[in-house]
Amino acid sequence: MKAGIITVSDKGSLGLRTDTSGPKIKELLWKIGCEVVDYVIIPDEREIISQEIIRMCEKDLHMVFTTGGTGFSKRDVTPEATTDVVERLIPGIPEAMRMKSLQITPKAMLSRGIAGIRGNTIIINLPGSEKAVKEHLEVILPVLKHGVEILR
Ligand code: MTE
Repeated sequence: MKAGIITVSDKGSLGLRTDTSGPKIKELLWKIGCEVVDYVIIPDEREIISQEIIRMCEKDLHMVFTTGGTGFSKRDVTPEATTDVVERLIPGIPEAMRMKSLQITPKAMLSRGIAGIRGNTIIINLPGSEKAVKEHLEVILPVLKHGVEILR
């Protein structure tokens, strides 16, 4: 499997913050035999996020993960940018991630992340922190391969 990672962070895109969440996603995906072949850090701009998701889908990647921009700040627009470009929603993935994460922290309810399908690609929003990325991905890693197989 091949995946892309989009880190959405104003500060990260300016080089003012080191991204540890993107590399964490890469590390965890490797464990299920998924190689990260594209990785970008971009600002919290709806149009730029949408365009990057589309670009990665056109490379026919199996999965695209975004990290960051799912909260309540006025600049947090990753779920909206994702909604703009997915053709079908996958409600079960964010439902499962939030359900498990709520057992760790009630703050999990503050992430508005979604998941969906565009063409042959599954797109999944993750929160921004490295800790949250790990807690979310651990829930879905065991089923991702099956999801990819059904879609292809
Ligand atoms: N989910 C888990 N599992 N662990 C966390 O620490 N942090 C929350 C939430 N989801 C968290 C989590 C917090 S504090 C916020 S503000 C939201 O994710 C949104 O984060 P984002 O704006 O960086 O995407």
